[in-house]
Amino acid sequence: MNELDLPNHYDDLDLIYNEIWTSLIRGKKDSKSEFHQCYVSTYSDDYPSLRTVVLRHANKDNLTISFHTDIRSNKINNINDNPNITVLLYSHDKKIQIQIKGTGEINNQNERTSEVWKNIRSFSKKCYIVEQAPGTKSDVPLSGYLPEHEKTVPDDEILQQGYKNFSLVDIKINKIEWLYLHRYGHRRALFEVSNCEIINKQWLTP
Ligand SMILES: Cc1cc2nc3c(=O)[nH]c(=O)nc-3n(C[C@H](O)[C@H](O)[C@H](O)COP(=O)(O)O)c2cc1C
Repeated sequence: MNELDLPNHYDDLDLIYNEIWTSLIRGKKDSKSEFHQCYVSTYSDDYPSLRTVVLRHANKDNLTISFHTDIRSNKINNINDNPNITVLLYSHDKKIQIQIKGTGEINNQNERTSEVWKNIRSFSKKCYIVEQAPGTKSDVPLSGYLPEHEKTVPDDEILQQGYKNFSLVDIKINKIEWLYLHRYGHRRALFEVSNCEIINKQWLTP
């Protein structure tokens, strides 16, 4: 912050771009960060679909961000129909909104998922052993787990059965929009990228 209580990035597009990546990388690492969750929007049915996911990877060199999900989920069907994805993140504390537009690439039972799966905690692996596809209708309230697995974390052999359902969605970024709220005037900026390079950076009227 300078003497007017303005952050250094206020009028500097390059510092804003760095701040975006610092925020995303902190978000993926730190479960207490407001950027640990993001909101992923897809479009293929009558309505745009939107859901919260955990930000799992953020790669500034490849210009990708990623999340984990069940291959049987609706969002995967949506992405198969139309790979265009918008992701929204907002920190109330920092007054920063980041909007990312990109293209989803689904990984399932490949080298990438196999590498990532090894490092996932058992508790998180458990999500992928639900019997029916997430979103399947039911006449009764349910967790989706077999009764014997409900109150425990099953052993590795059972958890491994979830691997086939585990998927990692990489979002190849095309555009990032930044909005910073400040009482002296907001700041809004656009970054367009292609082939891992910024091809346009510019201010937008907030
Ligand atoms: C805090 C929070 C974090 C979540 N993280 C994930 C996640 O990382 N991956 C995921 O598939 N669903 C996650 N969910 C559940 C989704 O928001 C959503 O309900 C579910 O994936 C079904 O979405 P779909 O039917 O649009 O595919 C999370 C929900 C909350 C509230």
